[in-house]
Amino acid sequence: MRQKIVAGNWKMNNDKAETKALIKGIKKSIKKLPLKNTRVIISPSYVSLSSAVKKAKNTNIEVASQNMHQAKNGAYTGEVSADMLKSIGVKTVIIGHSERREYFGETDELLAEKIDAVLANGLEAIFCFGEKLEERKKEDHLLEVGSQLKNALFHLKATDFKNIILAYEPVWAIGTGETASPEQAQEMHAFVRNIIGKKFSKEVADSVSILYGGSVKPANAEEIFSKPDVDGGLIGGAALKAEDFAAIIKAI
Ligand code: 13P
Repeated sequence: MRQKIVAGNWKMNNDKAETKALIKGIKKSIKKLPLKNTRVIISPSYVSLSSAVKKAKNTNIEVASQNMHQAKNGAYTGEVSADMLKSIGVKTVIIGHSERREYFGETDELLAEKIDAVLANGLEAIFCFGEKLEERKKEDHLLEVGSQLKNALFHLKATDFKNIILAYEPVWAIGTGETASPEQAQEMHAFVRNIIGKKFSKEVADSVSILYGGSVKPANAEEIFSKPDVDGGLIGGAALKAEDFAAIIKAI
């Protein structure tokens, strides 16, 4: 059975005290939820990762990093390696978020290297992809997403997908309050599952979790999650409020 996953991407929000308070709030809010087949992941900033891992110990909450450098170590000022993340107990890394692509120039080719580094280190990737508004308007969204996946992931082996979670995040829906309709999300998720099935195997396609991200809120989560190829969400703004995040988890 495919894993259901709700992951919060905190982006550049929350200092030390706020991180502590939010984790406390999430723990409290999800305590009574039946989380059977659902993974709950949060991703605070680098500076709070270590304390977040400690605070989430012995809970259902997993802690992911928002990024990682592809090199083992060296003269890369300001960067963080897989070994560093592993040394504090982080096992999952978000790779290829559209904000990393847009503001920090991350290309498909770089993301292919980052994915390789994540997998070579026995970590798990949440790989993000999605089209921009102009591409959606031109009806090039499937073409664009197909190309992002091909460029960053098609060199992998089928078995690598045990450690990959996919996250479709249409750029026009991120932080805009505009969500893809459940039908638009389903269309894309089914397309992605289909091309993964053709390139790798039906088994890989059936088992890989595909999350939707972009203005998911308590009010729209249930409808989006009800679609057969949507296995959960990657949540930005609404992951910063414990009750909202818990309500989204409840909707899955
Ligand atoms: P919002 O939920 O704030 O639109 O952000 C989505 C996102 O970018 C998650 O990675």
